[in-house]
Amino acid sequence: MPRSPILVLHGGAWDIPADLLDAHEQGVFDALQEGWRIIERGGTALDAVEAAVTTMENDPAFDAGRGSFLTRDGRVQLDALIMDGATLRAGGVACVERIRNPIQAARLVLDKSPHVYFVGPGAEAFAQAQGMTLIDNSELILDRERQRLAEAQAREQAGAPDQTFSGGSTSNQDSHDTVGAVALDSDGRLAAATSTGGTLNKDPGRVGDSSLIGCGCYADNASAAVSLTGWGEPIMKLVLGKWATDRVLAGRSPEQVAPEAMAYLLRRAGGHGGIILLAPDGRYGLAHNTPRMAWGLHTADGPRTGTLVREQDENETDTDQGAPAPPWN
Ligand code: GLY
Repeated sequence: MPRSPILVLHGGAWDIPADLLDAHEQGVFDALQEGWRIIERGGTALDAVEAAVTTMENDPAFDAGRGSFLTRDGRVQLDALIMDGATLRAGGVACVERIRNPIQAARLVLDKSPHVYFVGPGAEAFAQAQGMTLIDNSELILDRERQRLAEAQAREQAGAPDQTFSGGSTSNQDSHDTVGAVALDSDGRLAAATSTGGTLNKDPGRVGDSSLIGCGCYADNASAAVSLTGWGEPIMKLVLGKWATDRVLAGRSPEQVAPEAMAYLLRRAGGHGGIILLAPDGRYGLAHNTPRMAWGLHTADGPRTGTLVREQDENETDTDQGAPAPPWN
């Protein structure tokens, strides 16, 4: 039965400074346009999430693709996963340094390989064998990020509290711009994609939640599609993407499950982040427990973007301001 298609994006959940809000919302808007172009001509949810995430990887506003955070030794290492809810086919890459669009490499894994996941030089060799051009890592690095890394390492040297998500502090809520997309196409197929440069000042070889199936990304037409952003280690420990889709399968609405997932993340693992969750019937949920999360939503009625702002109460309850009103209300 034909469905009303929908595309939902996030552009990272953290304390996005006021002077960067416009760049985030514009970046999400541009990605919505690219993804929706595919959906509205009857394309697949899988192609739409790939296109939307590619657009955000190409936008230096985000911690994905060019402009990502740097590793402790000053390199960009990228992780991405894409999953097709209709078939459960998935493709992931991690710790790639020479690929401009890791979500496209992940898509090649999904399409062309019997395997699900490639890392490091093996992932790059696979992508090259499939026709992707490998680039020099320096093409992914911005001076802005060299400076951000130097400042983080100076704070580390000075013994200041960790604000980078890399040191295991449970209080940090800074800088997390992982990008993600979930979509439902007119044939009722769900898909999800997530891409990240990981955490600032991470150790080389560290892999976060984003590219791990069921952690930062998951899609199954029988339950839901999900993409997460935030501090990867707590999200991985809870396998939070699958946790959320399982609850939709059990009958709860994405609108209920999204804030529950964020509350669980904080309560059980001290984690901070954001989530977008989409059910096969088109119902969706967005939530975060960081100060802000950039989001975008496209339906047949048009695109909407914004920034969710959380007013933290003393019990750490999520009180999102400005979440898009679901159409079924
Ligand atoms: N959520 C992205 C990461 O921790 O790598």
